[in-house]
Amino acid sequence: MDSEDAGMNLPQRSDLAHHWSLEPDTVFLNHGSFGATPITVLEEQVRIRELMERDPVRFFEREYSDLWDQSREVLAGMLNAELDGLTFVSNATQGVNTVLRSLDLKPGDEIIVPDHSYQACWNAVDYVTERSGAKTVVVKIPFRLEGAEQVIDLIMGAVTDRTVMALIDTITSPTGTRMPFEELTHRLQARGVDVLLDAAHGPGIVPLDLTQLAPAYCTGNCHKWICSPKGSAFLHIREDRKDSIHPLNISHGFSFEGTPQEKFEFEFAWPGTQDPTPWLSIPKAMSHMEGLVNGGWAEIMSRNRNLVLQGRDLICDVLETTPPVPDSMICAMSSVEIPTDEEVGPMSLDGDPFHNRLLDEYSIQVPVMPWRHHGKKYIRISGQLYNHIDEYEYLAAALKDCL
Ligand SMILES: Cc1ncc(COP(=O)(O)O)c(C=O)c1O
Repeated sequence: MDSEDAGMNLPQRSDLAHHWSLEPDTVFLNHGSFGATPITVLEEQVRIRELMERDPVRFFEREYSDLWDQSREVLAGMLNAELDGLTFVSNATQGVNTVLRSLDLKPGDEIIVPDHSYQACWNAVDYVTERSGAKTVVVKIPFRLEGAEQVIDLIMGAVTDRTVMALIDTITSPTGTRMPFEELTHRLQARGVDVLLDAAHGPGIVPLDLTQLAPAYCTGNCHKWICSPKGSAFLHIREDRKDSIHPLNISHGFSFEGTPQEKFEFEFAWPGTQDPTPWLSIPKAMSHMEGLVNGGWAEIMSRNRNLVLQGRDLICDVLETTPPVPDSMICAMSSVEIPTDEEVGPMSLDGDPFHNRLLDEYSIQVPVMPWRHHGKKYIRISGQLYNHIDEYEYLAAALKDCL
């Protein structure tokens, strides 16, 4: 059965949707998982790739380094980041691994991981703590939250004199909740705990000022909310931590005999041969997105957030529930519990059966995430410029139909 068989007409998208090549017959409410790249930005990526393929040797010897620098400069401006500490990685998972696997952990050291953390990054913490005799300290945080203070108290309450690091999200994946990451970064670092800020949902969905925040480490994706091509992410390392962090691929840069800064840049800019066009397309993605609305990123973030707040109300109404977290903890993603009698197991690569049903019967692309750490299933909506409120109404109607 598809949406027509289910007796429902597909809803419209926004007037800006023609900038994306999204499948017309899908109600796409999952920008959060992998982003979606506008056509113009994909064309820019093709242009750079063609430049590279005309003479790959010339490109990497004479053009790549300047383009890499230009991309870094543009992104550093948006993040208010120290340019010398900013580099690119392929994705936030790689950024988190790069930091964790460079650490010299001692037995008994503790790393804090809130139980809303992205499982891949949590796994990376477990991997390094298990190998070194250190400990992962999981902080249980309920989903129904009264406010940011509750989160801050729980996380700060887990700090001991063995805590060396805390993995803190800007916005959580399963629960779509904006963490009080600014306050947490200040408080944790004042206690001598390095913050590894997971800004996978970062630039383009929440304002970030890395100079003011000064986390020891911050990694984030550009391919989600800046809408650059997949494989474009950043890692920012504070000056006093740069010496000890090396890319996952030890490559030519490791034996380079230049200044420490030149070595840092060489190590990260050359992880071995790979397609650098996602990184080099970041400036185009940023200027294209900013140009779509009057008011630039502030307007994009506010529009998307408003859409999601309205969408969340519609879903809460049909599920006969109330919003799980205050509006102040919402950006352009939001989760609500899905009633289930099943025992909630780990996530599977095949997708949750209810997610599959919404896709197959109603043509709705929306994640349903079993989150075994809470024993619950969450449905998470996203809002991006191509979305329209009708799409959330359509989802609400489908939920009513199914549940
Ligand atoms: C909080 C969080 N961290 C990390 C990631 C991983 O991002 P990527 O797959 O681009 O590495 C995600 C992906 O959705 C995420 O939501």
